[in-house]
Amino acid sequence: MQLDEVLHKEKLTRDEIIFLLKLKDENDMRKLIKRADEVRKKYSGDEVYLRGIIEFSNYCSENCLYCGLRNDNANIKRYRMQPEEIIETAKQISNLGIYTIVLQSGEDYYYDTDLIAYIIYSIKQHSNCAVTLSLGERGFDEYRIWKLAGADRYLLKHETANQKLYSIYHNHQMVGGRIRHLKFLKSLGYQIGSGNIIGLPMQTEEDIADDILLCDELDLDMAVFGPFIPAPFTPYQNRRTGSIKLTLKTMAVARIVLKNVHIPATTALATIDEAGRIKGLTSGANVIMPDFTPLQYRENYEIYPNRNTLKEEPNNVKTLLTLQLESIGRKISSERGDSLKLYFGSDRILHYPY
Ligand code: 5AD
Ligand code: SF4
Repeated sequence: MQLDEVLHKEKLTRDEIIFLLKLKDENDMRKLIKRADEVRKKYSGDEVYLRGIIEFSNYCSENCLYCGLRNDNANIKRYRMQPEEIIETAKQISNLGIYTIVLQSGEDYYYDTDLIAYIIYSIKQHSNCAVTLSLGERGFDEYRIWKLAGADRYLLKHETANQKLYSIYHNHQMVGGRIRHLKFLKSLGYQIGSGNIIGLPMQTEEDIADDILLCDELDLDMAVFGPFIPAPFTPYQNRRTGSIKLTLKTMAVARIVLKNVHIPATTALATIDEAGRIKGLTSGANVIMPDFTPLQYRENYEIYPNRNTLKEEPNNVKTLLTLQLESIGRKISSERGDSLKLYFGSDRILHYPY
């Protein structure tokens, strides 16, 4: 296969995606990353979109084998933020000029349909920010009510498109179920985000190619690819950390294949490599998701250890990022950063609230 030719194709086959993911030569990797950077610039420009995350509860009823928040882990201190505290934190984020609030938690039914709807509605009263929900799999009627309450986006990673692996990681569940949730969310008019974890036990480059192809099929608005980091007190605590190289290659290939989609440089990437955020942003990414969880809770949201955001002070985040971004000729956007697809002939423009 000819690398230069593949990099410039409009549509890539599964074999071509696998070929790119398996590149080893440093020079070839540089070509791949450079092409991804061009495609990112063409479809998203040089501005970087910020999403302020509030991890408001670390309770979870699920038991994903890789995750530190899994229900069976009795070794972490569990917390729940109260609605007013969540709404107040959201206000602080939008006061900093960050116009996407991501409400993230484990699957925690303490927050019932009405409570989440109340939180969404209250946040939307105070500013014109976008609200993204990242609450795991919930009821179809809940998704509908939360959309009416004002939610704009839903983030639900598929984690792996390989049914065999999905069922091993997730207590015999089916990846098809997760896909149904994503499709339903999209039909309600949510901008949807999904993605995988890179370097999970038993995963191959072929699996990652299928993850990228699934992202394409789902016509995502945001695609997330973060490295696996072993978490203590989980069945995978002694497994190897996902490779930074493979993560960056995946992000670059995803950019080339998916084109007009948001791709974040994840916290996990910044955790396994100090320069991870910058490396991600030059390998196809156009989004950063800084953590605004109040500091007293943050260390307990231990999906995996040593998250690099543990000491980031909310008020300094933007200044620090501005400086880092300047060094690569990029800058923070002051927009909400809605889907790159909304403006280009998508039928979903009908659902756009403005
Ligand atoms: N390493 C990296 N990412 C993880 N996640 C959960 N556990 C880990 C881990 N050990 C990710 C999952 C989930 C999100 C909340 O965190 O993709 O969707
Ligand atoms: Fe719960 Fe999400 Fe962790 Fe799975 S990945 S255990 S659903 S918080």
